[in-house]
Amino acid sequence: MARIIAGVASSHVPAIGAAIDNKQTEEPYWKRVFSGFETSKEWMRQTKPDVCIVVYNDHASAFSVEIVPTFALGCAAEFPPADEGWGPRPVPVVKGHPELASHIAQSVILDEFDITVVNKMTVDHGLTVPMNLLFGSPAAWPCPVIPLAVNVVLYPPPTGHRCFMLGRAIRKAVESYPDDLRVVIFGTGGMSHQISGPRAGLINSKFDKAFLDNLTKDPQKLARIPHLEYMREAGAEGIEMVMWLIMRGALDDKVDEVYRFYTVPASNTAVGHIILENRAKGAKPAGKRKAAPAKLKRAAARAKVERVHS
Ligand code: DHB
Ligand code: FE
Repeated sequence: MARIIAGVASSHVPAIGAAIDNKQTEEPYWKRVFSGFETSKEWMRQTKPDVCIVVYNDHASAFSVEIVPTFALGCAAEFPPADEGWGPRPVPVVKGHPELASHIAQSVILDEFDITVVNKMTVDHGLTVPMNLLFGSPAAWPCPVIPLAVNVVLYPPPTGHRCFMLGRAIRKAVESYPDDLRVVIFGTGGMSHQISGPRAGLINSKFDKAFLDNLTKDPQKLARIPHLEYMREAGAEGIEMVMWLIMRGALDDKVDEVYRFYTVPASNTAVGHIILENRAKGAKPAGKRKAAPAKLKRAAARAKVERVHS
């Protein structure tokens, strides 16, 4: 059977993509951001997922504001990078996993989550930037990706609770898939930011850090945060954080936090990142990879985070 072995959350600022594409990653402003993902890239190299499910939001790139699905699951064989105004980013085409994606669509719809099935779609910075942060800039992405686009751009977005419950339904779907696939699920966007209006530039590190703490320890509490509280505390675009709750809902109740990074700002946004592993034994089939002992990995991650934590 397939299993979700870990969850990753990461911000998705478009300027991070531009910094990569324009070879500015060594500049001090950007090095501060990218250095926080070195441990994560190593974790990803060791973890070697068979498939990733990337929960993200489209920013009027694939879906114009004429049609905005609340939850849209990418069931296509491939998803080219979107043209966001400067031509498509020079990143690999994302290869999908139509069989698992269709299975998830069937399972969650029969579980009463009426998602939209998407058979043709481009993917914007919401997906490609977290892919770069976790996988670097390879010639081809190392595993298939199932994109799940969530509406957080047009009122009303889904509630945090709905997102959390959809995560649970996705987990059930993955676990009823017959092939032995090790799946990592991403929650992307956030953390606090507002990009227009009188409060443009708003960042609330206290809110963000409490969100990271509770993502690990008490996600049910986060699932009760109403939209207005995100808006007030984390800025208009802070609502992107509900997508992290889909990722968290797909994990065990108790998880190991293996890495965390937080830095302010990147463009207008507080960059937050966390890696959570399920504890279930057998999640990593023997012989599939040479894993560093979990304790060692966590110590290495902590040492690193102390150096880069802002
Ligand atoms: C920024 C952040 C976003 O999440 C986004 O979609 C666009 C811009 C920013 O910080 O500039
Ligand atoms: Fe965004």
